[in-house]
Amino acid sequence: MEVIIRADEDAAARLVARIIVKELRANPHLVLGLATGRTMEAVYRLLAQAHRKERLDFSLCRTFNLDEYVGLPSDHPGSYRYSMNQHLFKRVNIDLRNTHLPESEAPDLEAECERYEQLIQRSGGIDLQLLGIGQAGHIGFNEPLSALRSRTRVKMLTPTTIRQNAPFFGGPGKVPRRAITMGVGTILDCRRLLLLATGPEKADIVAKAVEGPITAMISATALQLHSRCTVVVDEPAASRLQGADYYRWIFANEPEWEEFR
Ligand code: F6R
Repeated sequence: MEVIIRADEDAAARLVARIIVKELRANPHLVLGLATGRTMEAVYRLLAQAHRKERLDFSLCRTFNLDEYVGLPSDHPGSYRYSMNQHLFKRVNIDLRNTHLPESEAPDLEAECERYEQLIQRSGGIDLQLLGIGQAGHIGFNEPLSALRSRTRVKMLTPTTIRQNAPFFGGPGKVPRRAITMGVGTILDCRRLLLLATGPEKADIVAKAVEGPITAMISATALQLHSRCTVVVDEPAASRLQGADYYRWIFANEPEWEEFR
């Protein structure tokens, strides 16, 4: 795992967007894993800008989102399909048929989870998966006690997650209770992982995820098992990291990061 600390939210999102731009330019057929939530909105704004101003081409790219609420129609403003269309897909030249989210209105949810796993496999696997982190340490909707080898499945959301996402729905009572999410095992199968966390409210959980013991209680700790995982944080989110000086030293000296400094 590598941890990169940037001064503020904007600089952190810029670095993440630049990594994605570089990967997409190197491989126009990139299979890109996407996340939703407030943190990602800045990244999608920057990717849309790169499309507009630098002709970043999404026409051959395929995407898989981590998760979707159960039972929400795709045109519901709280659904992740709606959010992705608004923040990214409608703003770039991606073919919507190449954008995938779990179909959470499917009559047989278990079959849908299996179909989603197979679709990822048939696409050759995910090259680069973008991740956020919830305040209880989830990646995707892998809530506490998610098996570290879990695959795409239906999960019940914790009260913490429901509270965290309530503003998107106009109150906790309106947040769906269940979601389909890629499993921790599905995420660990991706070739590269890129997690972005910003803001002081993420400081505690980022420290646990990066420096704490691996535990199913905090699914993000499983990222420590991945051979190519980059965690990008801003200073407020990095404030509880014990190894912050070491991470800064690596970023300042590692040749791979020279073009991003
Ligand atoms: C949603 C997802 C979640 C979010 C996490 C952080 O697709 O994967 O794990 O990334 O809940 O959400 P924000 O960015 O709203 O704090």
